[in-house]
Amino acid sequence: MTALHGSPEAAATTGLDGSPTAHVAGLPPLTAQTEAEARELMARYPQPRSALLPMLHLVQSVQGYVSPEGVGFCARLLGLTKAEIGAVSTFYTMFKRHPTGEHLVSVCTNTLCAVLGGQRIYDALSADLGVGHDQTTPDGTITLEHAECLAACDHAPVVTVDYEFYDQQDVESARSLVTALRMGEKPPPTRGAPLTDFRGVSRQLAGLSQHPDAAAAQAAVDGPSAGVPTLVGVRLAAERGETAPPYGIPEPDPAPAPDVPTAGTAGETPAEQAADTAVAAAGNPAEQAGAEQHHPDTPEPAGRQLAERGAEGTDRPATQGQSGSGTSVEREV
Ligand code: FES
Repeated sequence: MTALHGSPEAAATTGLDGSPTAHVAGLPPLTAQTEAEARELMARYPQPRSALLPMLHLVQSVQGYVSPEGVGFCARLLGLTKAEIGAVSTFYTMFKRHPTGEHLVSVCTNTLCAVLGGQRIYDALSADLGVGHDQTTPDGTITLEHAECLAACDHAPVVTVDYEFYDQQDVESARSLVTALRMGEKPPPTRGAPLTDFRGVSRQLAGLSQHPDAAAAQAAVDGPSAGVPTLVGVRLAAERGETAPPYGIPEPDPAPAPDVPTAGTAGETPAEQAADTAVAAAGNPAEQAGAEQHHPDTPEPAGRQLAERGAEGTDRPATQGQSGSGTSVEREV
């Protein structure tokens, strides 16, 4: 949801208009215990206001979103205005502006996930659940959202539930996952800690434990971490005996360049002479290939020549001098 500051919608969801932030019937209250935990968070920072983000997660862990009451709660404890709290809480997508369901299901529809089926997954779940982005099912079990890159592109397409990863999903596996969630099950994530729920993970994000005892907390730490796709590069490097150069130790100077004529080569322009020098001075095959590719005498790649012929349906306008036209998209439409 997008709401401009000062709009009735923003005032209703964040209490930015200065109105009293009364408790909303049906929401769990922010208790003396909540305030004690908030003060514990504030004491972790030299400047108490630095605790605002964890405190907003704390509010979400109790009420499921950053309620108007939660905005007032943070403002009172930190000595800030509600507008200041609202400006922060409405900037980050992890702070929700209306009540979140028991589970937050995020489907990555960014580039890599999208081309591998992320958008199909989102569309299927949206149709099954009857909700769109940032909406919650009537039974309160699922809030669905599409997400930008979830930082797990090597496992695309990715779905997270309460920020725990379910890797390499497809439409049917995602449907099964959501069906299980709605039945009260908590399928184990592919990686990371065991699944809890949105309010529980919000408490963890606040910097407080969501687990009832030390054993449960340890189980979360011991969950599977790196997945196989993440480690492919490491495995291949080990098989090939490749290592990265040690950090901080300068690499040896490249071999001195052989003598080449720098001027006066018959028939060559200064640019061509400079390009000859660059090719001759290249210290390794990759540098040499790059220098050769930029040499003025190097033929244009076939694709680029094609693109510049213009009249054959490519990027250059077929008719020169027509202002405001010329993209291939414009010509096609
Ligand atoms: S594009 Fe989906 S995790 Fe990066």
